[in-house]
Amino acid sequence: MNKLIQLKNLTKNFDDQQVLRGINLDIYENEFLTLLGPSGCGKTTTLRIIAGFEEPSGGEVLFDGIEISKLPPYKREVNTVFQKYALFPHLNVAENIAFGLNLKKVEKSVIDQKVGKMLKMVGLEGFEKRDVTLLSGGQQQRVAIARALVNEPKVLLLDEPLGALDAKIRKQMQIELKKIQQEVGITFIYVTHDQEEALSMSDTVVVMNNGEIQQIGSPTDIYNEPENRFVAGFIGESNIIEGIMIHDYLVEFDGFQFECVDKGFEDNEEIEVVLRPEDLDIVEPQDAKITGVVKNITFKGVHYEILVETENRIYKVQTTDYAEAGREVGLKFGPEDIHVMYRMGAY
Ligand SMILES: Nc1ncnc2c1ncn2[C@@H]1O[C@H](COP(=O)(O)OP(=O)(O)OP(=O)(O)O)[C@@H](O)[C@H]1O
Ligand SMILES: [Mg+2]
Repeated sequence: MNKLIQLKNLTKNFDDQQVLRGINLDIYENEFLTLLGPSGCGKTTTLRIIAGFEEPSGGEVLFDGIEISKLPPYKREVNTVFQKYALFPHLNVAENIAFGLNLKKVEKSVIDQKVGKMLKMVGLEGFEKRDVTLLSGGQQQRVAIARALVNEPKVLLLDEPLGALDAKIRKQMQIELKKIQQEVGITFIYVTHDQEEALSMSDTVVVMNNGEIQQIGSPTDIYNEPENRFVAGFIGESNIIEGIMIHDYLVEFDGFQFECVDKGFEDNEEIEVVLRPEDLDIVEPQDAKITGVVKNITFKGVHYEILVETENRIYKVQTTDYAEAGREVGLKFGPEDIHVMYRMGAY
């Protein structure tokens, strides 16, 4: 696949605050890429630099191999959909979608045909003449997406486009957006701070914190092989434990050594281990190295969440098996359930 956008050592300062600290990222044709991270980490700033609304303080933005940092937004083959849809209230649905094409003086019959195609794609056939101010939030956002896509950009930037919608519509729109992206076959750069949304929609997830990229990977990579404590903690629920990598494939934590599938660390390097709650099983104490007492059990609908207090810490376990509070249990997991990460400063 072709690299469409390359960010090279991108930095951004606002006054004396550095909000981007050297972003390096390749974005490919046809890719659904998501910037994921907590509030204030620099997601919107990164998007605005790609769109041309903001100039970087340092570094480069390449589009198809050409540096575009100084190119004004309207000359970029990029369109943006914001969280607040910013539709024109005095124009109806069709006129909103046609807005950009009218500016470009595209022929009326062509406009009608393109607008019709877009309405069909976003599931708003027959809504041409409707007043946009009377549409539901989800419908307004569909119009905003159609209005951006009708210009046939090579890249669509979406900044928390579903943020204002309630949970049920949001889920439905996630599926539809993914479908639309596959149908039009263009690159989507999506911004969210919702990890579930990022994991379910993206080809590639970029986890950011404090102006820096923490990890780039597929949703399964990010979930199963977090590179550090920040990613492990931000994505899903985790037991994060400090330990030592004795040598390749052997790790020590909580006073025991365990076989694992990780390699490439220094011998005796201080590391951190992540154990996902759903990867832990409750067994009889004699069948496990780590043992403890059930402190609490909560029914979560699909599984129980069980807190097991051991000598060193409290482990969180998610399982369909029941274990009553006060019972002594063992915690069982396999080599592939242990994910070894580089140790880093505290967050
Ligand atoms: N125009 C500006 N002037 C000064 N500071 C700004 C400006 N725009 C953003 N910032 C600051 O830059 C940092 C990153 O902001 P940004 O909007 O990129 O975060 P974000 O990851 O999109 O957060 P959120 O999830 O809350 O939207 C924040 O500390 C913010 O206050
Ligand atoms: Mg933002």
